[in-house]
Amino acid sequence: MKFKILLLGFGNVGKGFCRLLSEKRKILKENYGIDPSVVGICTRTRGNVYDPGGIDLTIFLNRTERTPLIPLKEMLGSKVMIPEDPSVEELVSKADYDVLAECTLTSLDGGEPAYGWMKKALERGRSVITTNKGPIAFHYPELHELELKHGSRLLFEGTVMAGTPVFATFLQGLSGSRIQSFEGVLNGTCNYILELMQQGKGYGDALEKAREAGYAEADPAMDVEGYDSALKALILSNVLTKKSVPFEKIELQGIRAMDPGLIEQARSGKGKIRLVARGRLGDNNSDISVKPEVLLPEHPLYNLPGAMNGLVFNTDTVGQVYISGKGAGSRETGFALLSDLIALFPGKRHFHPSVSVHKEQLISRRAHLC
Ligand code: HSE
Repeated sequence: MKFKILLLGFGNVGKGFCRLLSEKRKILKENYGIDPSVVGICTRTRGNVYDPGGIDLTIFLNRTERTPLIPLKEMLGSKVMIPEDPSVEELVSKADYDVLAECTLTSLDGGEPAYGWMKKALERGRSVITTNKGPIAFHYPELHELELKHGSRLLFEGTVMAGTPVFATFLQGLSGSRIQSFEGVLNGTCNYILELMQQGKGYGDALEKAREAGYAEADPAMDVEGYDSALKALILSNVLTKKSVPFEKIELQGIRAMDPGLIEQARSGKGKIRLVARGRLGDNNSDISVKPEVLLPEHPLYNLPGAMNGLVFNTDTVGQVYISGKGAGSRETGFALLSDLIALFPGKRHFHPSVSVHKEQLISRRAHLC
């Protein structure tokens, strides 16, 4: 099945997604029966491009690595765009595409402008895949209504723990269960900084290292003030309960102005400091908090080195379920978009070729024995 993607955002995540689309083209076709092409790319600083025939991602990725700042239009060569300089709004509301892949920067300002773009795409009956936390944290119930009303789909695996399959695990794997609460270490930057601080580094140096490693947000206050963790906890609560909790109701404490006594407490008690997001999910309201805590070795979130994330769900069926993995990175977050894309087109079931050959052999061998 051929389909067209309009990509909003060509930073670390957008590029990671495009690299995976190129790298896995054969697998997508053979194992999942899908043949995606990117027809438009919109950026904040390098303009927008649109080619209904499909953009050559290999050229775009190669040239963008060599000349990261040139306007995207210059990479189309002699091709002329119609309209000549399309705006994001024009493309989202008029261009010919099937899936909007949205990976622009998260804003605390009600999730705008991405929220408006997603709404428009869903209203046009187009599916949306996103890694942008703002719109899902602030508007999930409305966006969910829109997908139901217009027969489109909205998937957002990359908003929490990058490509580590959080939503695939609990929306599908725990269907029928009630998730009563969760606790998670959801921000890699803070985890990395806290670890270095426990080894004796100062806060400023540790933050600088986290930035160098590429974990921190464009504005690292998002990480260290706890906003990023709070948005992720809000997303979990919104999606699990289909009800919004106002951001202001979150009990929020970041790590920038953390009580220095916690480091000593962790050292003397053989614990580890983690920025823990907790959610207690009720029928009518939920309580969410984010704050630094000392966790002891028996806690499932104790062993999370570097920028790793971890999440524990407490369920009424299988008790505690724990998932851990990378929560940031270009490839890791780009992969979340790829897995959402595959989930949109579940027509062809995937069987690993060697498994199906093996199955056929078994069947013919059994037939032979009979
Ligand atoms: N800055 C975020 C983190 C990136 O450190 O976890 C992923 O949301």
